[in-house]
Amino acid sequence: MQQFILALDQGTTSSRAILFDQKGQIVAQAQKEFPQIFPKPGWVEHDPREIWSSQAGVAAEATVKVGHNGSNIAAIGITNQRETVVVWNRQTGAPVYNAIVWQDRRTAEYCDQLREEGHEDLIRSKTGLLLDAYFSASKVRWILDNVTGTRAQAEAGELAFGTVDSWLIWNFTQGELHVTDVSNASRTMLFNIHTLTWDDELLALFDIPRSMLPTVKQSSEVYGKTKTTLFASKIPIAGIAGDQQAALFGQLCTEPGMVKSTYGTGCFMLMNIGKTPKASQHNLLTTIGWQLDGKVCYALEGSIFIAGAVVQWLRDNLGIIKTASEIEQLATQVDDNGGVYFVPAFAGLGAPYWDPYARGTIFGMSRATTAAHIARAAVEAIAYQTMDVLKAMEADSNLAIAELRVDGGATVNTLLMQFQADVLHTKVVRPSMAETTALGAAYLAGLAIGYWKDVAEINTLAQGDSSYIPNPDRAGLETGIADWHRAMRALKVWAKS
Ligand code: G3P
Repeated sequence: MQQFILALDQGTTSSRAILFDQKGQIVAQAQKEFPQIFPKPGWVEHDPREIWSSQAGVAAEATVKVGHNGSNIAAIGITNQRETVVVWNRQTGAPVYNAIVWQDRRTAEYCDQLREEGHEDLIRSKTGLLLDAYFSASKVRWILDNVTGTRAQAEAGELAFGTVDSWLIWNFTQGELHVTDVSNASRTMLFNIHTLTWDDELLALFDIPRSMLPTVKQSSEVYGKTKTTLFASKIPIAGIAGDQQAALFGQLCTEPGMVKSTYGTGCFMLMNIGKTPKASQHNLLTTIGWQLDGKVCYALEGSIFIAGAVVQWLRDNLGIIKTASEIEQLATQVDDNGGVYFVPAFAGLGAPYWDPYARGTIFGMSRATTAAHIARAAVEAIAYQTMDVLKAMEADSNLAIAELRVDGGATVNTLLMQFQADVLHTKVVRPSMAETTALGAAYLAGLAIGYWKDVAEINTLAQGDSSYIPNPDRAGLETGIADWHRAMRALKVWAKS
């Protein structure tokens, strides 16, 4: 019987399941969106039960499509929205609060306080992260400080904390496994990326009991088997990686210096920097890409919080498009942005600006401004934000990046891709296999069980790609870049910090 690898991609807006065959080709898939909860401005939550039920549902649906109720699934690889925090009761498995999502800014002032108290350098040197509400630690602390009874329960060892991978595996194994991998651990702000251990000093600083934490594993190994009745047989769970790290692996950026950017809800650019962590001088993060065969691969990362989400906002909040794909058509109705610059800082600004108090702002509107100019400015904003991160990465690595490998929903937008290549002066390469995140998780799981022999073998599976070559003659390129930076400076003045 032909065997497949089941990749589960639990993202910010939807849960997906994709089955891959040995050639790395998709044989079946299923996807389900789930509700976003916005209790207050700047707060973003998910119901952990909806995360689990949507993920379990699509896993079953995709599996059923290839028959045999799971006995033809060789292994499961999990990849997930990172930093998002779930805290649950070990006895009942019930979450004590909604998942606090990576985009949530409720702990920004607490992070300011930590900065004022002088903790930033310690955090930076141990975790590779900047002190920001984006990461898990301040969110876990918020739950323990604000949800009645949880601190006492946590101190009594009754509560478990996990990023979404841990939560899913706990449920797939009916509470048998409480694990995560190094890539997810590296986003919590509690993990020492040099010693590869939870850090007691950071746990004390955030006042988080060690007993809540999952066991940290490699990104590719057999952690255990499913116990749930979703599948007729027990399936090994053999790969875990945060979604951006999985995409770096799925894009086969397996050599130092290779860079990918995923255009999803946000935009995440990662560069493989090899086996030695390197501190950024330009406000990027140092993070763990993966651990495979005992060897850790580090990455530099620039995270942009809002990219594809600006298109959703134009659809759902402004209503100037009906479907996300209409944006390109609307934006190409005009020849240029008409002087409009849209900084979609709905969730503050990530790399390289790091301003939690910035908010979405549209500059330069006149009475001639139309919905098309706003759509165009939104598309350009995705490219300009990516440009700022890539420049920081080049400065950090002292390398002129030869090509940017891209993936994610927004890469079907050819206007965006060409504009991206033009503002970067760099070739943009989109693989024909668009599902690089899920594929990366599948590779990690498949390598653990010998479904694929080694990285050299998976490198032979690449299917070709399309490239966007920079056009240095595009009109107004330098002025546009200068005006974008003028808008960023103006927004900084407006924002609190
Ligand atoms: O750091 C957050 C990131 O992992 C979210 O990714 O694809 O769910 O937007 P995505």
